Formats: sequence, structure tokens, C-alpha cells
Amino acid sequence: MGKKIEGKQIAQSIREELAQQVSGVVALGKRSPCLAVVLVGHDPASVSYVTGKHKACKEVGIVSRDIHLEDDVGEQKVLDIVDELNNDDEVDGILVQLPLPSQIDEQKVLLNISPDKDVDGFHPVSLGRLMAGVPGFLPCTPNGIVELLLRSDIEISGKHVCIVGRSNIVGKPLMNLLLRKGSRGDATVTVCHSRSIDLARYTREADILIAAVGRAQMITADMVKEGAVVIDVGVNRIEDATRKRGYRLVGDVDYDGVFEKVSMITPVPGGVGPMTIAMLMYNTVVSYQRSQA
Ligand code: GUN
Repeated sequence: MGKKIEGKQIAQSIREELAQQVSGVVALGKRSPCLAVVLVGHDPASVSYVTGKHKACKEVGIVSRDIHLEDDVGEQKVLDIVDELNNDDEVDGILVQLPLPSQIDEQKVLLNISPDKDVDGFHPVSLGRLMAGVPGFLPCTPNGIVELLLRSDIEISGKHVCIVGRSNIVGKPLMNLLLRKGSRGDATVTVCHSRSIDLARYTREADILIAAVGRAQMITADMVKEGAVVIDVGVNRIEDATRKRGYRLVGDVDYDGVFEKVSMITPVPGGVGPMTIAMLMYNTVVSYQRSQA
């Protein structure tokens, strides 16, 4: 019964649409959009995400600035760099890759990013705008999930969406997005987390189940409703001796176990991940268009 939701392909078409918009404006003699990406240290997962972001920028026609700092960089240096980027009229978006090393206060850095360039949507002002229902940058993973559902012809309005996970990056903003009035929202939302008693009682009721907990394959077939739509946000490494690198990536959902029971499901990798990057490109282009208006 299951059908794979092709996040990779949908993200590709969004990048192509954005590339067309950008080339149209640049053809008029305007500068290209610009995203500054700040990476601290050499965490392999962060390096891999940031590489993907630079690559996507290139495809869309966005100039990406690569600001790579050593592991032991001081907090003030990062704050100063963010200030410089805030004041640079040629920079449309600023992204500081998380997590940051322990000597740097993450919240302090995020607060220092101008909300006008907060293309990650992590600034408390952006989160507040989302909650208040006024225009602002939407966090990329939650907005990517909504876009993925709509472009897969999955109706959200009126549906029971169960989110497992309450992070500031996914669970909480996604809850607010899905609750908004209008065709991209109007859902009934349940948010569960690691302390929820009898989690399956809630997940089994979901028309759309969104797993964002960061625990490998924890959502099993007995926890999903027949015919449900399943969105897997998890990216977990599990040991796999048959792979050259010794591990493989799996989601928070037992994909093979639930596949026959559900109507549609996102794969890991190739589901939500590419959508996050596509929405980052979208936010950067929107910020650019505002600056050119
Ligand atoms: N770390 C993991 N995901 C993200 C993301 O979407 N943006 C940033 N800045 N850091 C991350």
C-alpha cells in the first residue's frame, strides 16, 4: 500500500523554480542573492550539511560565502563576524551552523543575527512572528515538511497531525505552522515527546504522523494507523559493517516495517533533508527580493 514521497525530486523542482526567478532578476543587471554560511569546527555531520548548502546555492545562482572558523574560536569573534554580515548590504541571509562548541553561547549568537537576514528562522523574533501569524522567515525544516505535503497532494486542513518531538527547530515551530489558519494549516495538532505516557495511543490516531525525536527506527508498525501519511525527520547513524564507512543513515521510523501499512512515507535519506535546504534557498531568495524592492 505504501508509496514513497520523493523529497529529493520535489526539492530539485523547487531549486529549479528559484534558479529561474534569480536568473530573471540578474538578467536585469542586478547583483546575485548572497547567503553567508558560518561553520565553526569540523564536526563531520555539520561539514556535510554545510557542503550541501553551498552546492544548492550554486545551483540556484546564489553566491555563498564560506566562513569557516576553528573549533577554539572565541564567542566575541563569532559575534563580531555576525555583526559585520548584518551590516553588509550585499548579504541577504546569514546562517550559523549548529551545534556550536561549548565555549560559545548558541542563543546569544542566534539573537545577534538580524531578523531581516534570519533565513534559518531560528531567531526568537522569527519564532514569535510565526506564532503571531505575521510575515517573517519560517524555519526551513517545518516549512519544508508543509511544502512536501502540499506538493504530494496531501490535504492538511482538518487532519489530525501527531508530531513526535518538541525541539525549537522542528517540533515547536511545526506545531505553530500547522495550526495557522488557511490551506497550509488548519490541522488538529498533537505534540508528543520522550516523556509522553503511552506514545502509541497518540501516534495511532494520526492521519499524518511526523517523527522528529532523533531515535533510530523507534516508530514501528504497531504505532501507525493503516493508511496514514508518515514524515520522517530523523537522521541517525547506525552501525553497518557492510558499508565502507561502517554506518548507514536511518530515520526515526522503521521504514521497511511500516511501508505496507501506510499510504505515503518519506525515505531517509532523500525525504525531508533536501526540502530543508530547498526552503533555505527559498528564504534567501525572498530576503534578496525584499532588498531589491
Ligand atoms: N544544524 C542542524 N540543522 C541545522 C539547520 O537547519 N540550520 C543550522 N543553522 N544548523 C543546523
